Amino acid sequence: MRYYHLISVLSTLAVILLGSLAQPFSPRWDDMRVKHSWNAVPENWESLGNPLSSTTIDLYVALKAHRENALIDTLYQRQVAELVSPPPGTLELVNSWLECHGVPSLSVSMTHGGTTLTLRGVSIIQANALLGASYQLYRHVETNETVVRTVGYALPAALHGLVQTVAPTTCFSTPHKKWQSPRKCSGGAAAGLKKLVSGKSVTVLSSRDDDDDDITPSFLHSLYKTTEYMPAASDRNALGIVGILNGYPSPEDLATFMSVYRSDGTDAAITVVQVNGGGYDPTNPDDEANADTQYAVAMTYPTPVIFYSTGQGPAGTTDWLVSWFDYILMEVNIPRTISISYVFDEKTTSEAYATYICTQFGMLGILGVSVLIATGDDGVGPGDCVADDGSVQFIPTFPATCPYVTAVGGTTGHGPEMAASISGGGFSNIFRRPYYQEQAVTEFLQHLGNQYEGNYNATSRGIPDISAQALNFPIILKGEKQVGGGTSASAPVVAGIISLLNDYLISQGKVSLGFLNPWLYGTGKNGFTDITSGSNPGCNTGGFSAVEGWDPVTGVGTPDFQRLLAILPDYDDAG
Ligand SMILES: *[C@@H]1O[C@H](CO)[C@@H](O)[C@H](O)[C@H]1NC(C)=O
Ligand SMILES: *[C@@H]1O[C@H](CO)[C@@H](O)[C@H](O)[C@H]1NC(C)=O
Repeated sequence: MRYYHLISVLSTLAVILLGSLAQPFSPRWDDMRVKHSWNAVPENWESLGNPLSSTTIDLYVALKAHRENALIDTLYQRQVAELVSPPPGTLELVNSWLECHGVPSLSVSMTHGGTTLTLRGVSIIQANALLGASYQLYRHVETNETVVRTVGYALPAALHGLVQTVAPTTCFSTPHKKWQSPRKCSGGAAAGLKKLVSGKSVTVLSSRDDDDDDITPSFLHSLYKTTEYMPAASDRNALGIVGILNGYPSPEDLATFMSVYRSDGTDAAITVVQVNGGGYDPTNPDDEANADTQYAVAMTYPTPVIFYSTGQGPAGTTDWLVSWFDYILMEVNIPRTISISYVFDEKTTSEAYATYICTQFGMLGILGVSVLIATGDDGVGPGDCVADDGSVQFIPTFPATCPYVTAVGGTTGHGPEMAASISGGGFSNIFRRPYYQEQAVTEFLQHLGNQYEGNYNATSRGIPDISAQALNFPIILKGEKQVGGGTSASAPVVAGIISLLNDYLISQGKVSLGFLNPWLYGTGKNGFTDITSGSNPGCNTGGFSAVEGWDPVTGVGTPDFQRLLAILPDYDDAG
């Protein structure tokens, strides 16, 4: 680890490398070097000027680890985590910087498993000074969502190399829920299906005759062979769903859904945890939150399902993912399986930010949590994908491209199941190809030949890892049936099946699966049904094709619970 010495600032060539921070010099805190900056205000955002002067933000200063690879070595080796501490002296140096700017030490704490310094309640003026930033209030021109962000920020040279990233700063990415509702099955001369739910009569309307095409929980249970499994560790196992953007699930809709589609579980309940000021109004549910929870519950009943309603802070002054990790990594009992159906374009994040978030997912893996993330519904990318230099660049989604999560694509049909054309898939432009998928991806690329050369990054992580049904999912929203889908639906379905596997392991006194991918691409792949037809068009191209073996449309395939049960890893839980 290095940092730059005060006397050496005349020229970057004159940098003096110091091995230890026990120096009598005080660095210059006004020697700012740009950490990350966009050339312009990101697309679809407009500035509304300075935030109110009374606005404060919580700044997360993510420190680089002393041994940056220790965490990942640990993740791959399934060992107990060691603390990922910054190099000696870093904290003293950072404290001296904060003191110089009058940040009271009481407002500073270590978070995120010791990787991050959190400064709570920093005024905008202070934040601007600390980071050479210009925080403004920005509005998204389509959604009207507002956030407090800066187009660029800097750090003193002495800290530049020690800090991974600071949030919130330049990350404008608005996560998009991936639930697609093409058909609303209500109104008209509907055949009403009356259900009596907790004393109330709710009419489930369906105007379609083709309910036979619905991908119902019982169909999914039969397709993925979970029908006969009865959870046995519901007192120790749970499934977590991350929600944002003020989308909440409705317990009443869940009860209706269960009474129609899984009548043995009408007493199912969800726990809603409000994180970072996230809202909860059960009378005003949204489709995504309802879909995620209804399928998570229907796949795993009676396993507890926890919904995290994660806020963006007052006036959008925090980053939802960073705040969610701040919360979850402090929990004593983290659900063994977590599903996220919100995604954004990888290119809208900085590499440092994406790397930081990805490391946090890695920590969850070490803690024995399996994380499933939807890959999005735009195939290889939305729109024409023409980059500044005129070339077509496929657009992968984050956090799916993080190598420490399991990315979930979409399929449709049965006999045989094929790729859903919406299935998000492709290759990261940030994360190198992890060792566990080297062979699988190389085989695919050999098969692909020079098709799409230059449109995707042939050296990097490929997504998805696995897939599941994505289309024609009925849900209940405000008492009415809707049919929709997307990889949004696939993620909680797969998470449900992984949660059942974790249930089995826990009930046998074994360690939960944790980070899935090294196993998934090894023996685990024998428990998946390879999907070999269909493709994922996007960017005005035909997209990639599903082929034998791994492909960037359906990954290694869809789960077969019975086969997976037979090949589960077998580690006794000593704890
Ligand atoms: C955003 O605000 C404008 C003007 O205030 C309004 O016309 C528009 O409907 C809003 N859009 C959304 C998605 O709420
Ligand atoms: C391709 O991906 C690698 C990471 O595997 C990255 O370092 C590189 O910058 C990417 N190339 C482009 C053109 O984005």
